[in-house]
Amino acid sequence: MKSISETDLILNPDGSIYHLNLRPEDIANTIITVGDPDRVEVVSKYFDKIEKKVSKREFVTHTGYIGNTRLSVISSGIGTDNVEILMNELDALVNVDLSTRTVKQAHTSLNIVRIGTSGSLQESIPVDSYVVSKRGIGFDALGHFYPTTTSSFSEAVQAQMNLDFLSYTSFGSQKLYDLLFDNKNPLYFEGNTVTCPGFYAPQGRVLRYSPKQENLLQKFNQFSFQGNVLTNLEMETAGYYLFGELLGHEVLSMSAIVASRMTHQFSKNPEKHTESLIQQVLEKITML
Ligand code: URA
Repeated sequence: MKSISETDLILNPDGSIYHLNLRPEDIANTIITVGDPDRVEVVSKYFDKIEKKVSKREFVTHTGYIGNTRLSVISSGIGTDNVEILMNELDALVNVDLSTRTVKQAHTSLNIVRIGTSGSLQESIPVDSYVVSKRGIGFDALGHFYPTTTSSFSEAVQAQMNLDFLSYTSFGSQKLYDLLFDNKNPLYFEGNTVTCPGFYAPQGRVLRYSPKQENLLQKFNQFSFQGNVLTNLEMETAGYYLFGELLGHEVLSMSAIVASRMTHQFSKNPEKHTESLIQQVLEKITML
């Protein structure tokens, strides 16, 4: 079997994987990811027991238990470039034999739930609500480097928004969606989430320049395809879903809506709102 080279799969002297600094035994099969390294503790404080804490750069990992369920929480930092590293290295930890550098015959599928923050694109999705993403529409460049299928959704986005580039569209896990979407809570919304390669101009924010894409927010807001509108903007979801599909992992992105871009309102307490989403996820994730 072909062995992966030392420059394609870089290991640290202690055998851990290069950026995450983790060994296979350091992670659980169910993983919660957050962007902010300080938020890892906000998740792991609900664990009954923490068995491992590892950190390197923006990648902070705590692994422990809630009851009998083993869980990891890992921070990614902001953006799909970080998600690319995180997802490739997590996959290698479970699906590559690091001692022989060969792909294992039996495939392991991880359950990965991203909990992040986001801005809403529709007045009907208010600040302090939640969006659970069905689709991620990637406006970043990852889709140019990994196999993605041509999507009529992305083609419609390009045509209606008059863009000179094609986004990529990928889907979240139905299994995790069914478990974690709270049908009884009117603050839960199903999402077609736009993943942006930046926070300012790519999300229609204007500071000291004229953005190249004019009226971007209005174009996002008015887009509609086969009954689907664009619900929210953030910076990771499409990357997660691309790798979920490509590498065979169950991945779901859940966002606390901290900004309503249509009404210009910002949450009075974004930390509390995000922690409430963390609590709701942790209550259900042990049922996996
Ligand atoms: N994160 C984003 O990327 N955009 C927002 O508006 C809020 C959170």
